[in-house]
Amino acid sequence: MREIIKGDVLSKRSEHARILDGAEVSDAVIASVRQSIDEHVGHGGRRPGLAVILIGSDPASAIYVRAKRRDCEKAGITARDFDLPAQTPEAELLQLIDQLNDDPDIDGILVQLPLPSHINEPAVTNRIRAEKDVDGFHAFSVGSLALRQPGLRPCTPRGVMTLLNYYGIKVIGMHAVVVGASNIVGRPMTLELLYMGATVTTTHKFTRDLEAHVRMADLLVVAIGKPGIIQAEWIKPGAIVVDVGINRTDAGKLIGDVPFSEARKRAAWISPVPGGVGPMTRATLMQNTAEAAGISVSRPSLPAE
Ligand code: GUN
Repeated sequence: MREIIKGDVLSKRSEHARILDGAEVSDAVIASVRQSIDEHVGHGGRRPGLAVILIGSDPASAIYVRAKRRDCEKAGITARDFDLPAQTPEAELLQLIDQLNDDPDIDGILVQLPLPSHINEPAVTNRIRAEKDVDGFHAFSVGSLALRQPGLRPCTPRGVMTLLNYYGIKVIGMHAVVVGASNIVGRPMTLELLYMGATVTTTHKFTRDLEAHVRMADLLVVAIGKPGIIQAEWIKPGAIVVDVGINRTDAGKLIGDVPFSEARKRAAWISPVPGGVGPMTRATLMQNTAEAAGISVSRPSLPAE
């Protein structure tokens, strides 16, 4: 595998940043998941099953869920779909989760977030048995990550780590700045980076001088969902920029939180939107589901040059 050590990354100064190509890497992850599952099935094992629960008709959630179901097909995972009306009572959802927790053909349970406001989110995420918590949102899963213990890990941060690893980027010793402290991305992202030896600053809505923090970042991960939050001139020359934001413009175009064209002139590496972190999140869900079924998946990396 090609090794890129911190000094090389930061001293590398070309016209344009290199692309962290989530479309390519997610294909490689899904192919690896597929191969492991097919081997398992070839030896008489059961194909992993993922329950995908969508409540209501939020258009963005419907798009994400459709993509996840498509990925299941590619990965050789059996998706069981539950599309429930927005008014579904919380008790009914919890009862469905209980049934799926006890279902021997189901290895993973995914409840698409956000939930309608009458449903208590932690009650739902904590109801999923930790062994089937392929989203990694259960308090036990997040606690395991915080304590550096094995467990299922939230898909977006794990997917970001897989993406960096694929390109040989080692975060050990780097100053990483995470912009956003959500339960789904910012907080577990901080824990992943800390686990891998980065010095991590987490910024959030109460942070006083975001610019000053961003200017110090060797690795910048932005997960806010607001285009324009980061100005390109704040980016340290040679930094690695991971853009988790997905925003739709009035014209219907998908853009990230980071101004890509200008940021690309300063950074050494940058993830695009679309085609960056989004597909990595979904590929990691496939990986987590295979692992929840007891099937280990090898991490793809760049072939040696
Ligand atoms: N909503 C936004 N991202 C996610 C995710 O990764 N998993 C689930 N279940 N819901 C989400």
